[in-house]
Amino acid sequence: MINKRETWASKMGFILAGAGSAIGLGNIWRFPTTAGQNGGAAFIVIYLFSVVFICLCVMIAELALGRNTQKNPVGAYNSIAPKTAWKYFGVLGILTGWGIASFYSVVAGWTLAYIFKTATGFFSGMNSEQISESFTTFVSNPISSISLHLIFMSLTMAILFGGVKKGIEKWSKILMPLLLSILFLLVFRSVSLPGAKEGFEFLFKPDWTAITGRSVIAAVGQAFFSLSLGMGTMIVYGSYLSKEENLISSATWVAFLDTFIALMAGLAIFPALFAFGLEPTIGAGLIFVVLPNIFNEMFLGVLFGTGFFILLGIAGLTSLISIVEVPVAFFIDEFKWTRKKSVTIAGIGAFIAGIPAALSLGALDSLTNLISIEGRNYGFLDFMNLIFGQYSLMIGSLGVALFAGWKWGKSKIIKEIKTGFVNFSYGALYIFFIKFIAPFSLLFLLIYLFLNPNAFA
Ligand code: PHE
Repeated sequence: MINKRETWASKMGFILAGAGSAIGLGNIWRFPTTAGQNGGAAFIVIYLFSVVFICLCVMIAELALGRNTQKNPVGAYNSIAPKTAWKYFGVLGILTGWGIASFYSVVAGWTLAYIFKTATGFFSGMNSEQISESFTTFVSNPISSISLHLIFMSLTMAILFGGVKKGIEKWSKILMPLLLSILFLLVFRSVSLPGAKEGFEFLFKPDWTAITGRSVIAAVGQAFFSLSLGMGTMIVYGSYLSKEENLISSATWVAFLDTFIALMAGLAIFPALFAFGLEPTIGAGLIFVVLPNIFNEMFLGVLFGTGFFILLGIAGLTSLISIVEVPVAFFIDEFKWTRKKSVTIAGIGAFIAGIPAALSLGALDSLTNLISIEGRNYGFLDFMNLIFGQYSLMIGSLGVALFAGWKWGKSKIIKEIKTGFVNFSYGALYIFFIKFIAPFSLLFLLIYLFLNPNAFA
């Protein structure tokens, strides 16, 4: 083939890059925030079920589609089913990438500020109330919110200019072991705080009465978000995957690492949260309020705290790269734009779309209190997070499952899986999941949502 598509440099390359995409703010920021708002343990049980029974087979399907077609989501649908409406699932993925990138970069921007705040001892001696207040004051400042968002988006673009191999893979290699090590330290400190017990109960004792349709949807949506599914990220990353690679084990590794880190983040956050007398439902600021408290109580807290926010920032960066890469791959393949032009347009577009989100935590009242559902106020950032970070991903995943299971067809998908994994012998089981379990559970949830619009948020 002339003009060979860029591929990952090593066998471990994909697992690292895939995990780099999956592991990010989704695990450390969104998971505790959403679990906190949806009842804790019962939410986590549903989340784990979704990862194993729905998400894993969708991830394998995305990777197979990407590797088989060597295309972005729209191109992938188009090359298997030309001139059909399937491509609109791809288009939705491109839009979703843009929507998620916009608010993701805002939150990632906060981590940059928290690196400096922690390093300079800003939080030393503050009690948990003062730490909460300082978060509120910080995010309501329009200048710093927008500037940090701009800096983070620029960093992402700078890496994307270099392309997949040089950009994405390199970063993921150093990051993960480091992030995990500091996370372990945090877990130890958090679980040994006086008053941590309530946190354990919140995490491990499911209260099924707290589960509503809304929390089930939140848990399933969180699983898709955390595993980077439903908008074509894994189609694009799969398109850079070599034919020798085993899709099943790559996907399983990525899902395992991602889920492990999310659970560790839960263990680091909730025992400490209860120990410091904070509320699990506080929303987007949750980790930014809880973590500085832990660092204050920790030996060498300034050092570990600074290290942690640096790593969180990098984890966010490797994820945001994979989000923006989806529209970029689309522009390159379909419009034949250069990488430079594609990255510039995708990045600037996402920056602009993120401005209202950056102003929605106190800077502008109309954006801060955008909608109120059942007594809870949602700002623009929450709204984008729900629409793009949850519902869009569920619809996109439904599209992938229906397409792989019903349109692309059994023999083709199994053939793609067997390229690189000759002895694969669970074909029938896989087909059962991708054809029935995944799409029907998603359809069921989406229909439920349609019939109960107040379960929306
Ligand atoms: N999975 C990433 C995270 O957990 C976010 C993401 C969502 C990345 C969708 C790509 C696609 O932070």
